[in-house]
Amino acid sequence: MRLGDPPAPHEFDAIERVSRDELMALQLGRLQRTLHHAYQNVPLYREKFDQAGVHPSDCKELADLAKFPFTTKQDLRDSYPFGMFAVPRERVARIHASSGTTGRPTVVGYTKKDIDVWADVMARSIRASGGRPGDLVHVIYGYGLFTGGLGAHYGAERLGCTVVPVSGGMTPRQVRLIEDFRPDIVMVTPSYMLALLDEFEAQGLDPRTASPRIGIFGAEPWTEKMRAEIEDRFDLHAVDIYGLSEVMGPGVANECVESKDGLHVWEDHFYPETVDPFTGEPAQAGELVFTSLTKEAMPVIRYRTRDLTRLLPGTARPAFRRMEKVTGRTDDMIILRGVNVFPTQIEELVLAVEGLSPHFQLHLTRPARLDVMTVRVEARPGFEGGRAEAGRILRKAVKDRVGVSVEVEVVDPETLERSVGKLKRVIDKRNN
Ligand code: DLL
Repeated sequence: MRLGDPPAPHEFDAIERVSRDELMALQLGRLQRTLHHAYQNVPLYREKFDQAGVHPSDCKELADLAKFPFTTKQDLRDSYPFGMFAVPRERVARIHASSGTTGRPTVVGYTKKDIDVWADVMARSIRASGGRPGDLVHVIYGYGLFTGGLGAHYGAERLGCTVVPVSGGMTPRQVRLIEDFRPDIVMVTPSYMLALLDEFEAQGLDPRTASPRIGIFGAEPWTEKMRAEIEDRFDLHAVDIYGLSEVMGPGVANECVESKDGLHVWEDHFYPETVDPFTGEPAQAGELVFTSLTKEAMPVIRYRTRDLTRLLPGTARPAFRRMEKVTGRTDDMIILRGVNVFPTQIEELVLAVEGLSPHFQLHLTRPARLDVMTVRVEARPGFEGGRAEAGRILRKAVKDRVGVSVEVEVVDPETLERSVGKLKRVIDKRNN
């Protein structure tokens, strides 16, 4: 595997090399402007600030942000479709939206300048991942209302790459294009990367000889164990990218390939906080909350992401704080007989057991009065003998490490549904 090099000094955005103090001074000015912009132009913010008894002019230092009220997904839903826009609709250059499988979709808008900033932070993210001008980038994130495809696309173009806008699906064709075009970089959800792996093997190809040297993976939680699995089987650098449509899209935070130690938050545009998910009080680890610092069309103030992580000081980009890999979402947390369980915890344990593949689902049922969780996991191809033993090892590991008893079913390879976009790990049949 070619070493992941940090960018040369001339390759950085100037802001990537400033001191923490310089960055904080920039943030304060931008925060003050954003609070005024939101208050003056979005009735929802005006009402919320007034109700909380705060005014944008009360923000004298960054810590004052904590006095301002949170914004939630419900606020966005209540303002459907365009009620959160802070500029006239005619100035909105693009709209994206969440799929809205549960309730109304959440709609987000961008001015031309917002799209420009987004392309900049995405270009910065691809460069932090090890990408350089001239690289060929195969984008598998979906194009459409989802921000993944177009976000990656504009960023790769901005960096000066050759972009192949494939979007998701048609797995055999993805593999053929990777073989024929020989991309340097693939951008895709980690779960779909596993589906590609199967397809390479099904076509009799060795994934380790495939061209990509970098994979930029995000849009869903994934673990260090999954990183090791993908890096080993594809012989590439697997780098984590984070973002959400409400704040921008992909490119809010990204790992640096030279350190792979959590995601640097591009704090010149997105101000992060972590709060206790129950009380909303500041906490070192907890729910990630974002305030946009430069957005025009749809500024967000203290947006509750529901994503759980911890903020840490910067390393490879010293001025920019890092967020640890996301453990999960508050709404993905399974409470099993009083014990909190995240799918990522199970992922780490599954991948530590010989003979078990990374393909698994968590089935929740309530046969009597108690909830039961069954880990349905595929055996690795060719692993016939020790399935019962592998299941026993996993059951014990979950009991020891997570503190809860689960059932384990080891099933044949290629029997569980593959995801094309975001993975659905949990199948909850408790209310049926
Ligand atoms: O998933 C944006 C994106 C596209 C990010 C492509 C990265 C790559 P949404 O559809 O609005 O936007 O979903 C956002 O996905 O709140 C997290 O729960 C989850 N998520 C995104 N990136 C990561 C990641 C895009 N790297 C929601 N790790 C977020 C864990 C992630 N979860």
